[in-house]
Amino acid sequence: MTEKRVTFASKIGIVAAAAGSAVGLGNIWRFPSQTADSGGALFILVYIGCILFFGIPLMMSEFIIGRGSRANSAGAFHKLAPGTQWKWVGRLGVLTGFVIMGFYMVVCGWTLDYMFQSLTGNLHKVTDYTANFNSLIGNPLRQTGWMILFTMLSSFFIISGVKKGIEQSSKIMMPILFLLLIILALRSLFLEGSSAGLLFLFRPDPTHLKPTLFLDAMGQAFFSLSIGMGCMITYGSYFNKNTNLTQTALQVSFLDSLVAILAGIIIFPSAFALTNNPDVITQELVAGGPGLLFITLPELFNQMPLSFFWGSLFFCLLALAALTSTISLMEVVTLYIHEEYHLPRKKSTLLVTVGVILLGIGSSFSSDFFNLMDLASAKVMLPLGGLFISLFVGWYLDRRLVIAQVTNEGSVKLGVTFLKVYIFLLRYIAPLAILAIFIYGLVG
Ligand code: PHE
Repeated sequence: MTEKRVTFASKIGIVAAAAGSAVGLGNIWRFPSQTADSGGALFILVYIGCILFFGIPLMMSEFIIGRGSRANSAGAFHKLAPGTQWKWVGRLGVLTGFVIMGFYMVVCGWTLDYMFQSLTGNLHKVTDYTANFNSLIGNPLRQTGWMILFTMLSSFFIISGVKKGIEQSSKIMMPILFLLLIILALRSLFLEGSSAGLLFLFRPDPTHLKPTLFLDAMGQAFFSLSIGMGCMITYGSYFNKNTNLTQTALQVSFLDSLVAILAGIIIFPSAFALTNNPDVITQELVAGGPGLLFITLPELFNQMPLSFFWGSLFFCLLALAALTSTISLMEVVTLYIHEEYHLPRKKSTLLVTVGVILLGIGSSFSSDFFNLMDLASAKVMLPLGGLFISLFVGWYLDRRLVIAQVTNEGSVKLGVTFLKVYIFLLRYIAPLAILAIFIYGLVG
């Protein structure tokens, strides 16, 4: 490749693009349903622990690998560790990206469907919200149609280029989405009877303890931060030489967690408030289900004046948030094919699009396939990828390269203690904790 590699244009664009990848359906759809499934507050505690102890260090590590190599996620290992088997970590990441898109695009399709229902006013005439959601997931063709549309939309952005597509869209929509979430959270909190939802969310209840709690929370942390599959390696490869990697990782992780918690504050208080029987709702929530967001939110909108406006705005922004995530997923796989197999960008994108649509059809027609893709990616492939990435940066990479990347060749002043803690987390805490949780989750 002789062409000069593009980089993101501005500092705000960098954070917006990385946060755009992280913030998506993982925060607004998957986080609440996982939290419900794992019994609330305990899950959130473990989740935050995962973000702090290995989420942030791992995100920094991916940035280091990406900017240190300026290559796609597999090429990066090739460049930094030539002649070794580390390239398989990058390849595993590419495969993981595929698997994630294989079910994620279906949920993106649900979002489009709800956007359409909302814009046409139909969503606001619904009386049985559960039946409304079930009629969507019981209709594979309807899901497939929306899924294909969304996949093609993402590929359009991939083809139209890194800077224009990703940066511009993230910069505009992220702040609006954020504001809207705050408005919805406030509305939800002011509903009568919402406090039971807040307690579910923030007061740990040991009777909800499940053996898979740790693995679920760790998987969610990886999924939500977009780490463990080379997505942040790819984005790191577009950073410029002045990007402060630590600061960016902290900002992105903070924003990402904030959006997830906000989504929780919207959904749980309203779920509890809008039903008359908290015992039933607790059982339903603990039983989990992917429909939480799509069942509770329309009900919340209908409690608000101008429900048509709020509902439409929300589902449009949700679709955009999902789009900035699918763009990042698709970029990983496309760039890999483009750079490693020297196929033109357009052709690479086309190949990826067809592959994703095939997997998406599988997920639309079979909820078992959907769940398998979800489980395999979040609970197996991402943690494994994260484990190897921490070993790679902690043990294999030359310490001078790591420090030069973190400090931008010495121009970012970071305390010695900070660097020591970072390396310690990466060498010992991250790999051991990931391994322990992984084994415990599989055995438990
Ligand atoms: N983090 C994204 C979300 O929360 C999903 C994602 C996972 C994107 C892995 C890229 C890589 O929706």
